[in-house]
Amino acid sequence: MSNTNYDLVVFGATSFVGKILTKYLVEYFSTHNEQLNWAIAGRSQKKLQEVKDSLGPSAQSLPILIANATNEIELNNLCSQTHVIVSTVGPYALYGEPLIKACVTNGTDYCDLTGETQWIKKMIEKYESQAQQSGARIVHCCGFDSVPSDMGVYYLQQQAIKHFGEPVTQVKMRVKTLKGDASGGTVASLINVIQEVAADPALRKDLINPYSICPKNHSFIQKQDYVKAARFDSDFDTWIAPFVMAAINERVVHRSNALSGKAYGHNFTYNEAILTGKGFKGRLKAIGIVAGLRAFMLAAVNKPISQIMEHYLLPKSGEGPTPEQQLTGRFDLRFLGKTNDGKSLRIKVTGDQDPGYGSTGKMLGQAVLSLAIDHVENGQKTGRKGGFWTPSTMFDDRFIQRLSKHAGIVFEAV
Ligand SMILES: NC(=O)c1ccc[n+]([C@@H]2O[C@H](COP(=O)([O-])OP(=O)(O)OC[C@H]3O[C@@H](n4cnc5c(N)ncnc54)[C@H](OP(=O)(O)O)[C@@H]3O)[C@@H](O)[C@H]2O)c1
Repeated sequence: MSNTNYDLVVFGATSFVGKILTKYLVEYFSTHNEQLNWAIAGRSQKKLQEVKDSLGPSAQSLPILIANATNEIELNNLCSQTHVIVSTVGPYALYGEPLIKACVTNGTDYCDLTGETQWIKKMIEKYESQAQQSGARIVHCCGFDSVPSDMGVYYLQQQAIKHFGEPVTQVKMRVKTLKGDASGGTVASLINVIQEVAADPALRKDLINPYSICPKNHSFIQKQDYVKAARFDSDFDTWIAPFVMAAINERVVHRSNALSGKAYGHNFTYNEAILTGKGFKGRLKAIGIVAGLRAFMLAAVNKPISQIMEHYLLPKSGEGPTPEQQLTGRFDLRFLGKTNDGKSLRIKVTGDQDPGYGSTGKMLGQAVLSLAIDHVENGQKTGRKGGFWTPSTMFDDRFIQRLSKHAGIVFEAV
């Protein structure tokens, strides 16, 4: 690795989730032995200074770097100064590409919080070979989408190998508890995805392709059983409804299977849904979720209605759940895996804060620490080579330990 000024730069430290991440890193470095030479970055000196001032005395030596997400020269300058960059500047489909380009040009490792499948696909197609040449390791989806799903399946497969000597070939993830709200950036990303997909028939085709972000030569043909409507799930003995994050999580898990040499099997199936309860009440709740999702999508594709929603009803850029809501939020995800001959195993992944912000800030923090510390030795990159990796194919057991010890994300057998 070339000589650079920093181990890590947080780009977008002024965003709602960037502030949470920055605070988490300041607290982490002041209470743990692991230390990095790091800086915060963004487009506004004034806003970054405000973030820095809010972080207390231990952050007062934190350098501020200025770069606009649309300025290639500034981004190249930023990337040439650091080994790793973590970005919370979103919607990524609108602002993210120049930074990916700068990272693959400079061989800078990168991770982010995108859940925008259509953008990830585009970035892989455009920049993977350059990343392989320059050694840049690009890891998308390091937040609630898709760390618990992707690392949850990875953990479940480890348990399956331990107990059965073989991987499970069918996995269901069910959301048991999810307590938390969305931020302005998340809402903007979601609406942008729906609008881009509605305007482009090729993207609509990708939307129903579970392998859309797998490498081109993946050769998977197994039909996947999406949960598109309210239905009863006898494995969990309750009604289920579609889970909005499944659109990204399912694809990330299939890409992980492809990148790991089909470690989960050639005919691996995976789907996600929300548990809504038993009986009439459970069924009604499932139907209500489906109706709510459809109404939101219809409203999002209608520009005047979505503008009214964004202006009057939904959180704006920089807004999101209060610190108290983050602390009282939580999530509990249940995984059921079955082998080809019907042996089954259950695990759960839980988070002690709201999924999208409190827990996401900590997950992203540990992902970036893992990238900057666990996968570097004596100044040389170790582990994966340059390319576009998923969380479970870039990281390993050390990431699960980090999440359990320092991020309140616990993986356990049920
Ligand atoms: N995967 C997950 O679980 C998860 C969870 C939470 C959020 N997210 C995603 O994370 C992203 C951030 O969300 P958020 O709510 O924190 O966003 P936000 O508060 O709206 O912040 C947007 C950030 O982008 C920056 N920005 C915009 N245009 C820029 C430009 N041209 N140059 C430099 N910086 C620019 C803004 O800088 P200024 O402050 O200077 O305006 C701000 O820091 C979104 O894409 C969201 O979908 C994902």
